[in-house]
Amino acid sequence: MSDSQFQQGHSVPVTHQEFPGKEHKMPIQAQYDTLPTDEGGYQKYKAAGKLQGKKALITGGDSGIGRATAILFAHEGADSFIVYLPDEEKDAQETKRIVESLGRKCYLFSTDLTSRENCKKVVDEALKQLGGIDILFNNAAYQMVKSDIHELSEDQWVHTFNTNIHPYFYLAKYALPHMKRGATIINNASINAYIGRPDLLDYTSTKGAIVSFTRGLSNQFVGKGIRVNAIAPGPVWTPLIPATMDDEAQKSFTSPMGRPAQPSEIATCVVFLASPDSSAISGQTIHCNGGTIVNG
Ligand SMILES: NC(=O)c1ccc[n+]([C@@H]2O[C@H](COP(=O)([O-])OP(=O)(O)OC[C@H]3O[C@@H](n4cnc5c(N)ncnc54)[C@H](O)[C@@H]3O)[C@@H](O)[C@H]2O)c1
Repeated sequence: MSDSQFQQGHSVPVTHQEFPGKEHKMPIQAQYDTLPTDEGGYQKYKAAGKLQGKKALITGGDSGIGRATAILFAHEGADSFIVYLPDEEKDAQETKRIVESLGRKCYLFSTDLTSRENCKKVVDEALKQLGGIDILFNNAAYQMVKSDIHELSEDQWVHTFNTNIHPYFYLAKYALPHMKRGATIINNASINAYIGRPDLLDYTSTKGAIVSFTRGLSNQFVGKGIRVNAIAPGPVWTPLIPATMDDEAQKSFTSPMGRPAQPSEIATCVVFLASPDSSAISGQTIHCNGGTIVNG
């Protein structure tokens, strides 16, 4: 299947991987710094120096939306410090290679963010390597499809919260004392917080918590010149999908646009929220979901 077929309403190729999913094992290469054209192809992202000299801490930066964000940040002039699981070293090295080919720095740090101590180490190391933090993109997540609450183990419930929301709190808490006026935090939520996806009950609950966390934290910091926003993507072509979704979920993995989004199409929203283009926006969520109308 070619990229253009992928855009024209075909369902995604069903494949399976162990969690965490690997970008280099995906059957179709994702788009990181190209965006769909009206003719069904892709065109290169056009940068405008929106993040010149900025320093970004990105979790889950080895692949998917995190990788695309590190790459678009590099196009816009920012250096990144990316965090990922040790298993994902190969993907992380590739993100670094692409970012550095664009003339920006990309520092790598593999660790398990479910540990509070590791989150502290991440912030300490990011400050040391980058020399500051202007942008925190909380993006790492775990999910695993379970169609019924009786199939969803208590351990999975706790692990999903330990991965998806607790590190967002820890990293923000540890980074904020070092963030100055003009700094931004962007939290990756999900459409599932708004539509209540039944086969991802634990994940959906954490994503609802992320939306509320974003609103409360924004209300604490908006008066100090630090903006906090969220994105709520719909289906996006990333390694999370083959690593966590069964055949049925993958076959229906689409949006009202007739396709999942590419990671680049979500990363443009993160660039917007990280840059002064969104200077009047805080506590909000961008619904980059392929056309599903949701409230809030
Ligand atoms: N792909 C989609 O359809 C979709 C839709 C809505 C929201 N999202 C959100 O986008 C974000 C990025 O996911 P993606 O789709 O780009 O997939 P991805 O697999 O590329 O990224 C997820 C990343 O989370 C990181 N991670 C997971 N557990 C971790 C842990 N314990 N410690 C450290 N890192 C850990 C891994 O580095 C992994 O690469 C997630 O927050 C996800 O919920 C994705």
